[in-house]
Amino acid sequence: MDISETIKTRRSVRTFDDTPLSEDHIGQLKRFIPTITNPYNIPVEFVLLEKDKYGLSSPVISGEHMYVAAKVRTVPHSEEAFGYAFEHLVLFAWSLGIGTTWIGGTFKRELFETAAGLGTDERMYCASPLGYPAKKMSVKEITMRTAIQADKRRPVPELFFENSFSEPLKECDSELMKAIEAVRLAPSAVNKQPWRVVKCGNAFHFYVKHSRGFTGDRTGDLQKIDAGIALNHFMLLTDGSLTVQDPGISAPDGTEYVATVTL
Ligand SMILES: Cc1cc2nc3c(=O)[nH]c(=O)nc-3n(C[C@H](O)[C@H](O)[C@H](O)COP(=O)(O)O)c2cc1C
Repeated sequence: MDISETIKTRRSVRTFDDTPLSEDHIGQLKRFIPTITNPYNIPVEFVLLEKDKYGLSSPVISGEHMYVAAKVRTVPHSEEAFGYAFEHLVLFAWSLGIGTTWIGGTFKRELFETAAGLGTDERMYCASPLGYPAKKMSVKEITMRTAIQADKRRPVPELFFENSFSEPLKECDSELMKAIEAVRLAPSAVNKQPWRVVKCGNAFHFYVKHSRGFTGDRTGDLQKIDAGIALNHFMLLTDGSLTVQDPGISAPDGTEYVATVTL
């Protein structure tokens, strides 16, 4: 798959065409899942769930026949690892023409957790429908996208900085700009785009600017999942390596260091 193109064209799909996934596509997803890794080396286990078998649904999704959920143990960085790994599946699915929507809030969580066979020390932070996008979005989907301005992203200078949070990022070479754009286009809960990145030489320090209402015992910290997604996009395009060591840069209130990618 052309990663840049896949990231650029991906969108959340909430209206599906009522066609079950083909056997070939299910087979491709099943073969891809065991290849998914994350730089935290935290196991993330995926489960494909038939909607009708478990009575699964989401009030914002229509025309779907299948969901994918994933499970992770509640260890440090489990949210980032979950976000990183799950986004890999989201992008692969999109490259096959299969639509997804990250769902962390708008579903009956207990039903999905039971269907996924969640263990007591595990969390299923999010799930997603899997299906073929309908030709037209439902009115509900259009209304929702409009309300959260899902097609918009903040401009680069509000998200990317150089050496400190007071200097917006200067012009970079075109390859790096592609990776930066890939972070900017990442999906995030309620399209909050909480990622902030400070470039220091060839080190890119990733932070999360927290908003209220995104953490819970079962959901984990959804904005750290957002960070994992952004790290996935950046690392797919740069082939950098990830470490977690706070560089001690003075960060604005509510802005937390997450990880560093070094090129
Ligand atoms: C961690 C996470 C949780 C999300 N939870 C929901 C959800 O519960 N319901 C929903 O309809 N969309 C959910 N979304 C989808 C976002 O609203 C969507 O990604 C964002 O508005 C950007 O739109 P796009 O994905 O079409 O680019 C979630 C996204 C992420 C990353």
